[in-house]
Amino acid sequence: SLVTERARKDSESSEDEVFYKEPKNVGFKTNVFKGLVVCLVGLPARGKTVLAHKLAKHLHWIGYKSKVFSVSYYRRKHIELYDSHEIFRIDNTEALEIRQLSAHEAQEDATEWLQAEGDVAILDGTHATPTIRKEVYDHFVKQMGFKVLFVECICDDEKILDKNVKEILQFSKDYKHMSAEKALDDFHHKIEHYMEQYETICPKEEAAYSYIKIFNEGDNMSVHRLNGFLQNQILSYVSNFRPAPRTYYFSRHGESEFNVLGRVGGDADLSCRGRKYAASLARYFNDAGISGLHIWTSEKKRTKQTAQNIKAPKEHLAALNELDAGICEGLSYEEMQDKFPQEFAWRDQDKLRYRYPWGESYMDIMSRLGPVLLELEQEDNILVISHQAILRCILGYFLNKKFEELPYINVPLHTIIKLTTFGYKCKMEVIKLDVECVDTYRHQPKNCSVERSPEDALLTVPAHFDALSLAALTNWVKAQPPLIEQH
Ligand code: F6P
Repeated sequence: SLVTERARKDSESSEDEVFYKEPKNVGFKTNVFKGLVVCLVGLPARGKTVLAHKLAKHLHWIGYKSKVFSVSYYRRKHIELYDSHEIFRIDNTEALEIRQLSAHEAQEDATEWLQAEGDVAILDGTHATPTIRKEVYDHFVKQMGFKVLFVECICDDEKILDKNVKEILQFSKDYKHMSAEKALDDFHHKIEHYMEQYETICPKEEAAYSYIKIFNEGDNMSVHRLNGFLQNQILSYVSNFRPAPRTYYFSRHGESEFNVLGRVGGDADLSCRGRKYAASLARYFNDAGISGLHIWTSEKKRTKQTAQNIKAPKEHLAALNELDAGICEGLSYEEMQDKFPQEFAWRDQDKLRYRYPWGESYMDIMSRLGPVLLELEQEDNILVISHQAILRCILGYFLNKKFEELPYINVPLHTIIKLTTFGYKCKMEVIKLDVECVDTYRHQPKNCSVERSPEDALLTVPAHFDALSLAALTNWVKAQPPLIEQH
């Protein structure tokens, strides 16, 4: 049914809409620009939507509030049940009006959002003609004083197109109620209608614009009049972007001797149970015979020992080392409370931003993981063996978690986490291997005040073998007379 009145965004969440809300003053950005619109251009099935959402995720990670405004989301609010490609015909004036209205609504909402709080609005649509692009440019640049960067996706590689079409037919709401055959036929007609209208960005007529043209998903690129730090960050991201379904495996190292004692950091060996996990992990991957499997570990002994018996090439990266706990390296949470009660409380108050004296914060490790994440996005069938805080951040990135949630994501020991990406979404599976281990997860306590009692501060510390009582026990044993007198 065609509904022509203005369709406003409502508060209900939509799969089309991804909104990365960030607490203030989080991120690494410089405050020297006033709103950027990234306007995607290109025929259907050229990978625009996946690029839009992945770019939003990346920009969020480096500290820019980013939101995707999808024209088809607004179109679906007017035309609830997609019937056929007919609405994309150039001579279907009633539908054309609705599509134009939808594009304007997306622009209007992007404007309001940029004025209120946003940094980067990404317009996901075809923006297929110079006239439409001029409207975008005039509105955002001339009237509103924002910057616009056009990103055009061009593709004539049949393999890439086939892959993209399959993905769209599988996931698009338009085709949910259609048979596969009808959907394929309909989608090809839709592309044909757009081909009648589409004109690539013209270097002469549209020379005033900043734009990036991406050919065949990054085989080739052309860049025109880029401007400023953020646009160059976007260039660097899109030039590295090769969308494809990918599989990632993540695991913490096996239980370490420090884990058993409840101590943080250090470079301890695996415990006996940790070595069992390493053997079990090796069996799992050696039996699975995953083609092209390769492994990244940190430089710490415990991750290398965990990877040791898996038959796959390995690299050891310092960027995957555990969060540096500075003056608290090697201490247990009890000892931190005992020696540095104020530091311990400050960390509980704001674990994301808290930086250990002479050490790191979660924000710091997010920043050092930036290049690793860019590399990871190119990988497939990779196993990353790292540490609790590091894997929290990596998983948080792939699963689009809010920054504040990262330090509390539960990544237990002796567990494989498998992520499979498709389009811009991600499926997570958790495979627990049957080897006992300690729990290292400490919930945020209710009382985070510096005046709290040690009992309150230690309320959520997980159980572990108490090193102090071990020392006391050892001393006591030493002090006892030998059972058999030695002569
Ligand atoms: O306890 C294991 C560990 O990997 C420590 O080495 C590290 O300091 C800690 O986890 C990070 O977790 P959290 O940020 O919850 O203290």
